[in-house]
Amino acid sequence: MKFIITFTFFIAFHIGAFSQSFNSAHFIDSLLLQMTIEEKAGQLSLFTNDWNDSGDMIQDQYVELIKDGKVGGIFNAHGAAYTRKLQEMAVNESRLGIPLLFGFDVIHGHHTIFPVPLAESSSWDLEAIERSARIAALEASATGLHWVFAPMCDISRDPRWGRVMEGAGEDPFLASAIAAARVKGFQGEGFVQPDAVAACVKHFAAYGAPQAGREYHSVDMSELTLREFYLPPYKAAVDAGAFTVMSAFNDLNGIPATANSFLLQKILRDEWNFKGFVVSDFTSVLELLNHGTAENAAQATLTALSSGTEMDMQAFFYLQNIPHLVNKGFLEKSVLDAAVRKVLQLKYELGLFNDPFRFCSVEREQKMLMKDEFLEASRDMARKSMVLLKNDASLLPLSKRLRKVALIGPLADSRQDMLGGWYAAGDGKKAVSLLDGLKSKLPDCEITFTKGCDIVAQDEQDFDTAIKLASEAELVILALGEPAWMTGEATSRTSLDLPGMQQELADKILSLGKNVVVVLFNGRPLTINKLDQNASTILEAWYPGTMAGSALADVLFGEYNPSGKLPMTFPRSVGQIPVFYNTKNTGRPWDGATNTTSRYIDSPNEPLYCFGFGLSYTSFIYGDLSVDKNQIIDNELVTATIELTNTGKFAGEEIVQLYIRDLVSSVSPALKNLKGFQKIMLQPGETKLVQFKIGRNDLAFYNKDLKRIAEPGEFEIMIGTDSMKLKTVRIRLL
Ligand code: GLC
Repeated sequence: MKFIITFTFFIAFHIGAFSQSFNSAHFIDSLLLQMTIEEKAGQLSLFTNDWNDSGDMIQDQYVELIKDGKVGGIFNAHGAAYTRKLQEMAVNESRLGIPLLFGFDVIHGHHTIFPVPLAESSSWDLEAIERSARIAALEASATGLHWVFAPMCDISRDPRWGRVMEGAGEDPFLASAIAAARVKGFQGEGFVQPDAVAACVKHFAAYGAPQAGREYHSVDMSELTLREFYLPPYKAAVDAGAFTVMSAFNDLNGIPATANSFLLQKILRDEWNFKGFVVSDFTSVLELLNHGTAENAAQATLTALSSGTEMDMQAFFYLQNIPHLVNKGFLEKSVLDAAVRKVLQLKYELGLFNDPFRFCSVEREQKMLMKDEFLEASRDMARKSMVLLKNDASLLPLSKRLRKVALIGPLADSRQDMLGGWYAAGDGKKAVSLLDGLKSKLPDCEITFTKGCDIVAQDEQDFDTAIKLASEAELVILALGEPAWMTGEATSRTSLDLPGMQQELADKILSLGKNVVVVLFNGRPLTINKLDQNASTILEAWYPGTMAGSALADVLFGEYNPSGKLPMTFPRSVGQIPVFYNTKNTGRPWDGATNTTSRYIDSPNEPLYCFGFGLSYTSFIYGDLSVDKNQIIDNELVTATIELTNTGKFAGEEIVQLYIRDLVSSVSPALKNLKGFQKIMLQPGETKLVQFKIGRNDLAFYNKDLKRIAEPGEFEIMIGTDSMKLKTVRIRLL
C-alpha cells in the first residue's frame, strides 16, 4: 500500500512540477487528502535539536516522530550535512515523505555576526540593515536553514527589559522602516534560488512592554497606545511579505498572545491580510496553563489553534491532543486542514517538495561562510552603528602617532562578548576584540592592558595595576559595559548602572587627569550619569559583532566619522522609566518654575541622552526651516526645506530627522513623532538643502474610535539633529 501511495505521489510530484495546471493549491489539497490526523498534527509541531559535547544530537523520540511523519520542523539544527541527514529521515523513511522545515534564531548574522539589532538600528541606515539581513540569509540558507526567527519587532520604552538589545528601539516610524528592511533582506527575491530564508515577525504582540520591565510579565495598554506605538513595526514586516509570525509569551490585556484572536485573527488576518502561519514561542501553548486561561493540554491546544496559532513550538501539545480533539468533534477538521495547508504552503514556496535537499549543499556551504565581503560588511555596519555620546575635549579622533596607550576594562580583550546575545552560529574565537583592533591599527604603539576589575564581581582586584598603567600612558581607553549574557532573553535588570566595580574603576582612572576615552559595550541604555559628568569622551559601541575591534579602531582613529543616533532614550535613572521622546504635554506641562506641574522633585524630566542623539567629529549647522506652502488640503503635499552645512574639519554623515506635532486634536497628541529621516554626507564646508515632502498621512493619528485620520488644524514641522534640538515651522491642514 505504502509503495502505491508513494509512487502515485511521486508521479503527482513530477506531473505537478512540470504541468502548468498544477499549482500549490491542488498539490497541497491532494497531499492533505492522503494525510492522517496524526500526520497533520505533526506538521503543526516544531521541536528543537540538541547539542552535547560531541556536537549536534537529536533526541531519539524526535527521530522516531520524524520517521513517522509527525514533525513539521526542527529548530536549532543547522549545517548542510546535518540538516541533510535529518531531511533524509523525513523524506525517505516517513510514509508521505513530507520534508522538514529547519528554523533558527539568526537575529544579527549567522556565522558572520553583525552588530546586535539595537546597534544596527543606531545606524538608521536601511540599506546597510537590509544588506546585513541578506548576508545572514545567504549564510543561513547555505547551512540548510529555511526559516529564521527574525526580525524582532517589539517596540520598547523600558531598558530594564533585556531584549531591547534585539529590537529597533522606542519609535514606531524608525522601527517599522527597519523591520521592512530586515524582511526584505531575509527573503530576498523569494526562493527561486535557495539563497533566501523565510522571516518570522516576532513577538506578536507588545512583548516589549512588560510590567515593571520584568521579562515575560503581563502587558496592559489601551488599544489606542497599542495601535499608535506598538503594532506598526509588526505590520511593516507583514506588509513586506514576511511568511511567518511568532506569537509572544505575554498576555495582552488579560488574553495570552498565543491564544488571542483579537491579535491573531482580527488584527493580523482580517485587518492586515496576513496569509502565512503563526508559530508559538517556545512552549507558549503549554504556558496557557500558567496564564490560567486553559485548564488542561486539550483546552490549551484548542484555544491556541482556534485563535490562530498554527504551529506549536516545543510544547508537544498539538501532536498529543489534536487527534483526540478532532475525533471527539471539538476541533473542526476544516480548522486543522487550514492550519496544515499554511505550513505546507511555505514548504512548497521553498521548493522543498521539488527538491527537499536544495538548501543542503556542503560545497555551497564551504564557499559561503564568513566570506571577506561579509566580514567587511559587518565591519562597515559596526562603524555605522556606533554613537558618539561625548567628545568635549575633541580627543577623538585619536592620532596614529600615539606611542603609549593603556587599554583598561573588563571588556577590553573580550572577543565573545563582542558578538552580543543571540549570536547564532557565531564563533567568539573568530571575533576581533578591542585589544586586537588597537594592536593591528597601531603596530608601533606600546599598548598596555589590564581588566582593572571583574565585569560583575564586587571586588577591586586589579585597580592598582590599572592606575599604574594609566599613569604611565599618553592616553587611556576604558572599555566598560555589560557582559553579553546580561542582555537578551530573561535578563531584566532593576538597575541600569555599570555592573560590578566598573564605575569605581572609572572614577579612579578619570581622577588621574589623563586623556581618557570611554568605550561602552552594552545591549541597552544604561544610567551612566557619573561617566557623563566626569568623562570628556564617550563612544557607545553596543556589541559590534565579529569585526568589533577593527571597526572600533577605524572609528577611534578617524577612518570613519561616527554618524550613529540613539534609537532609544538613555534615562538619568531607573526612576524615570518609561522615559521616551514622544510623550504628551499633559495638563500641567513642566514650565521650569511652577512646583505644581508635571515634574520630579529629585530629577530633571529630561533624559541623559535623548532619542535621535549622536555626535560627529565634525559639526553641522542647520539653517532656517521653510515650507513651500503654509496650508494644504486633501492630498496636497507641503515641502519642508532646511539648509545643512558641515562647519567642521571632517567629512561626515548627519541623520537629519523630521518630527511633526499636531497642536490640537481629538486625542491628546504627542509632543512630536518621528515622521522622516535622511542620512546626508557632507564634505567640510559643504552645504546641502534637505527636503521632506509631507502629506496628510504624515499628519494622521488614531482617534478615539481607533480610526486613523488627519484632522484639520495647525501642525508643527520640526527638523534637526535629534529629538530635542529642532527648528520649527507651522503649517495648517484645511
Ligand atoms: C525563545 C525566544 C524566541 C526564539 C525562540 C526559539 O524563547 O523568545 O525569540 O525565537 O525561543 O529559540
